[in-house]
Amino acid sequence: MIRKISTKSLEVGMFVSDVGRTWLNHPWKSKSRLLTERSEIDELIAFGIEEVYIDTGKSVKSPQAPPKPRPTSPDIKRVVRAPVNASKPVEPTVPMETEFPKAAKAYAKALDTSKALVAACRMNKRIEVNEVQEDVDELVESVSRNRDALTALIKLRHFDDYTYTHSLNVSVLSISAGKTLGLTNQELKILGLGTMFHDLGKLRIPDNILNKPGKLSDDEFAIMRSHAALSAEILTEQNLNVDDQVIKVARSHHERIDGSGYPDHLQGDQIPPLATICGLSDVYDALTSDRVYHKGMLPHDALKFIYSLRGSHFQPDWVDRFVQSVGIYPPGSVVELNTGHRAVVMEVHNRSLLTPLIKVVADPNGQLYQRTKLVDLSKPAENQGWTINRVVPPSEAGFEPANFFNFTAQ
Ligand SMILES: [Fe+2]
Ligand SMILES: [Fe+2]
Repeated sequence: MIRKISTKSLEVGMFVSDVGRTWLNHPWKSKSRLLTERSEIDELIAFGIEEVYIDTGKSVKSPQAPPKPRPTSPDIKRVVRAPVNASKPVEPTVPMETEFPKAAKAYAKALDTSKALVAACRMNKRIEVNEVQEDVDELVESVSRNRDALTALIKLRHFDDYTYTHSLNVSVLSISAGKTLGLTNQELKILGLGTMFHDLGKLRIPDNILNKPGKLSDDEFAIMRSHAALSAEILTEQNLNVDDQVIKVARSHHERIDGSGYPDHLQGDQIPPLATICGLSDVYDALTSDRVYHKGMLPHDALKFIYSLRGSHFQPDWVDRFVQSVGIYPPGSVVELNTGHRAVVMEVHNRSLLTPLIKVVADPNGQLYQRTKLVDLSKPAENQGWTINRVVPPSEAGFEPANFFNFTAQ
């Protein structure tokens, strides 16, 4: 039986069937869930939700079940099929300020390698796979120490050329999402390599089609779509000593569960899991990046778009996990608080996407503070009633968010 009750009367063990808001206006990934922790109720209350619908038939009174031990070497498909709530929150082992300079160095090195990779492919030279793998391994290690340092960098380094940054950014986003999914380091390294190579085939697409500002004709579109198979072909031709999954990521990153993707029109589970992670990261990076002909979307608008592909292009669970990994307010975003103060998002909490760790940098008049203040919005003792009102586009921020990460361009 469905009953409407006050959020204040909620108890652990009750099944909330509907929080009564659209997905971006409540703190959860979906509108329904069995309450297993008091903090979930506090989240709803903190978010100003006064009443919800509960399903008494699905409610239980049992206390929270103990967490399942993490398998040492998870089978990728099994991890993917696990319930979304089984994703482990990824707690940083190193603080942002320690990891950020290391991440910046790893990113800069990988960007150089990415440029060399493009140059080698353009001249039909051999790909130095060991160098790429070495850089990817460093990215994996950085994400393992503090996932948000590299994802912040992606957002802050908006001045670099898309041709070189896209594959690297997709690699970072994918490693980060894979980490949230519980993939092993070995799997993350395969994923990182595959994503670095995913669009190599574009180097064989004529420039007038690749960079055409207007709409592509059907023929041009067919040529453009051939890039995924070409990426796999380049890797196979070079007879590189890489895991099969690396080639699969490159070939299948545009496959979609309804069979509308390419090149093989795979459906549902036929799509390799690592290629799905690459596909989601690819769409997200393409939408949020500034290009010659258009400004990139704000992250939450891009996530809304990806959400609209939930169930048609991507498995619903996957989309939920990806949103959980990227966060509604990714690190590096500038946000306006309910008081008008402006802040920069420093770190995202997987389980509480609307209440990240922020640095409050400007007063309601836009005046920058001499001393900034770190505030964890998820902690009632720290947040002073602050909530995020809106995301401020970088062009309106009035300051360079990178400065608050002690960021130095390399
Ligand atoms: Fe692609
Ligand atoms: Fe791509």
